[in-house]
Amino acid sequence: MLARTILTFIFFTAISFSSFSQVSIIPEPVSLQQKGGVYNFKNGIVIGADASVKRIAESLKDKLSVTGLPITIVSPNEKADIKLSLNKTSNATIGKEGYQLTSSGNGVSITANEPAGLFYGVQTLLQLLPPAIESKTVVKNSSWSVPLVDITDYPRFGWRGLMFDISRHFFNKEQVKQYIDAMVKYKYNLLHLTLANDEGWRVEIKALPKLTSVGAWNVKRVGTFGNFIPPTDDEPRDYGGFLSQSDIKELVQYAKDRFINILPEIDVPGHSLAAIASYPELSCTPGADKYRVRSGEKIMEWPANGHFYALVDNTMCPANEKVYTFLDKVFTEVAQLFPFEYIHVGGDECAKNFWEKSPQILDLMKKENLKTMDEVQSYFEKRVEKIVESKGKKVIGWDEILEGGLAPNAAVMSWRGMKGGIEAAKMGHEVVMAPTTFAYLDYMQSDVMTEPPVYASLRLSKSYEFEPVPDGVNAKYIKGGQANLWTEQVYNIRQAEYMTWPRALAIAETVWSPKEKKNWNTFVPKVEEHFKRFDLAQTKYSPAMYDPDFKFKKNDKNEITVEMKTEVQGLAIHYSFDNSIPDNFYPQYSGAVSVPKDASTMKVITYRGDKPIGRLVVFPIAEMKKRAGVKDKT
Ligand code: ACM
Repeated sequence: MLARTILTFIFFTAISFSSFSQVSIIPEPVSLQQKGGVYNFKNGIVIGADASVKRIAESLKDKLSVTGLPITIVSPNEKADIKLSLNKTSNATIGKEGYQLTSSGNGVSITANEPAGLFYGVQTLLQLLPPAIESKTVVKNSSWSVPLVDITDYPRFGWRGLMFDISRHFFNKEQVKQYIDAMVKYKYNLLHLTLANDEGWRVEIKALPKLTSVGAWNVKRVGTFGNFIPPTDDEPRDYGGFLSQSDIKELVQYAKDRFINILPEIDVPGHSLAAIASYPELSCTPGADKYRVRSGEKIMEWPANGHFYALVDNTMCPANEKVYTFLDKVFTEVAQLFPFEYIHVGGDECAKNFWEKSPQILDLMKKENLKTMDEVQSYFEKRVEKIVESKGKKVIGWDEILEGGLAPNAAVMSWRGMKGGIEAAKMGHEVVMAPTTFAYLDYMQSDVMTEPPVYASLRLSKSYEFEPVPDGVNAKYIKGGQANLWTEQVYNIRQAEYMTWPRALAIAETVWSPKEKKNWNTFVPKVEEHFKRFDLAQTKYSPAMYDPDFKFKKNDKNEITVEMKTEVQGLAIHYSFDNSIPDNFYPQYSGAVSVPKDASTMKVITYRGDKPIGRLVVFPIAEMKKRAGVKDKT
């Protein structure tokens, strides 16, 4: 009787039936049943876990410390509010990374076959807790509870990546950790680090010290990267930096503790100016000893016809044996530093115009019976594959490595759309999809009038449409997908976060959740819930999804009309043409609007109810005319 009274007491203090709070888990779990009611953490939180998962329990304890409640870890057979346990008999459905989470009147139980699954279950648990769990300091007087749910969850793909380019602008060890901290919340398991490009060599190679004494440094410039005034010889080259081998070891361990692999990229033979500035003998081009690490000045031309070319030879010379000796040294140390099974060897955007004029390349072509410059690159990639494989690693490269013939075992990362990935998969090669069309985080998130300018835009809703397995392709070759953050125009970690979130939420849902679980209309409110979490975690994100899209047209009287639409439903678009700042008492957009004859600006803002939600977008008349194709009468 006493036991029953105690049980009843525990039941009614632990569960409140009054609430059926909205659950906003990203990525969406495979199966989620909300049962009604919540489990309250009252006077403390007891975590039950055995020694094999102690580290996960400790990391949960750390995270829960913001509750201000006493947190204890006990052995699994003691009574606990949160139980973490590994299955004694493996559950085939959830695989290596899946988990089951049940919350009831007795507390929360997370089970998994492997520690990775438990870790992901913990990430889900954190998302079930109130947003305040993301606070940086103790939150007093909050009521800490989780809704009652049954969740079974496991990923769709084994490769769930984000690429962070720390070459164009250098990001140090602490900043990379900060990036990792955000990505683990969304069950990413791979960080692709771009470690070498024209603007900097970022990994210490002990056998090649000039790579970091020379190659890691350029001249600080800010503004719009790509057309900076070329530095003079007397400007200090003190901007940049690199990860020492001890930094890398620390980062690899930090990532491993969070179930993240780090994929290192050394981009060759193109984009190699930092290496060539350090060791000019890697080039076929006379005068390479005058080359310097790029500081954002123009070094390549990108005509609209797609036939790009280099103004300085930023390629390694495939006809030069010293290049292969160099790469052998680089990959020896890279392979020792990074335990992940792949090394990314780049291969993208390799300009061939200097090769075409090089006697050494022409000799190589004769000797090896190579007919085209693409075949020259393919010769290079095959030799690189042999070097990388001799270090016990597998090669992955950008889809250009298909041109001229793919190396026998190489995996392909498809970035110029899905085409390269489809071709490689049809040849039986492994593929990671990372197409510009859906997954390029360096692209602007809305109109250039509000975003830092980049040559293309990629909206959140478009990212959300990403589907890594194209029709007609055998899914077994598609290892997964990733989103790429190139950092030419990203000067600091706040902007790196801004560019990543929330689009990386969309990609996370694509690479983890079942295809049929994806739904834009339910995704948007979840994103908004996560905005609260980002705010509390002090992670920057873009609110661009609240800004409209604009289409300017010219009518037959040479007048401009404008059409606007938002990707988020239920917003009102208000506008002005009289230079004043519109609010919700201004005209509301309901269909194409004619731009008045004498207008000098259009100003636009979105509202949800009586609250402004989008940013003020300002179009000068000249921009509207340009987009509409309206010419002034002369
Ligand atoms: C790339 O975006 N150049 C791979």
